[in-house]
Amino acid sequence: MDDYHSPQTIIAANWKMYKTRKGAAEFFDNLLPLVKDQENLVVVCPPATLLMTIADKYADCGVLFGAQNIHWVAEGAYTGEISAEQAADAGAQFVICGHSERRHYFDESNEMVSHKVDAALNQNLRPILCIGETLEEREAGDTLEVLREDLFASLATVEPTTDIVIAYEPVWAIGTGKVASPADAEEAIGFIRAQLRELWGELACKVSMLYGGSVKPENIAELMACPNINGALVGGASLKAESFAAIINYKK
Ligand code: PGA
Repeated sequence: MDDYHSPQTIIAANWKMYKTRKGAAEFFDNLLPLVKDQENLVVVCPPATLLMTIADKYADCGVLFGAQNIHWVAEGAYTGEISAEQAADAGAQFVICGHSERRHYFDESNEMVSHKVDAALNQNLRPILCIGETLEEREAGDTLEVLREDLFASLATVEPTTDIVIAYEPVWAIGTGKVASPADAEEAIGFIRAQLRELWGELACKVSMLYGGSVKPENIAELMACPNINGALVGGASLKAESFAAIINYKK
């Protein structure tokens, strides 16, 4: 395959509601010497409180930063929320949109997610759109239908662009230690790419698609060997510099 047209490889960390300044500084002190001369994109999505501090401090370290969530409205009386412009101003270049924890604990609908993706793109933030089935949906044989529905509805208002990143994150694999088998992950992501192709044409072949859900140093290489998987969104194993570095360095 022509490299120019290949999707970028992206290894992204989702720190969720973990770490303060001290822990973040220790993390980067340990991580940076381990991941020098990285050819792949490495993105860290810290809690909003840390974004500006670490984006400023580590601006030239080869790591990019992302927010974990934004509101879709440009500004206004939305106590506790942050806008795409504010996230970008704090140093984010990416933003996670529609993570299953936001969908389930905070009732985010596909409609909201699609507006968040739009808001991100309007501020030149690259959205990492998360979709994935629950255990019940998988056991009922509804996985592909759920993925199609979530993909189409989450992109309802979005213009085709390779700035978007799509993360397949089966809900049953998040934080549970149960990783999807490479075959299942490849099937799901291959399906998502085929659906995106229906929607956006050939551009879909250039969109980076990540797997997320209990990614660890022990399983990253077999996941990355799958043709449709272009990277990983890592939660628990991204909190320790050593394990995140081992994931980033999966080829070594
Ligand atoms: P996990 O989380 O790696 O801890 O399973 C992944 C995610 O929620 O993005």
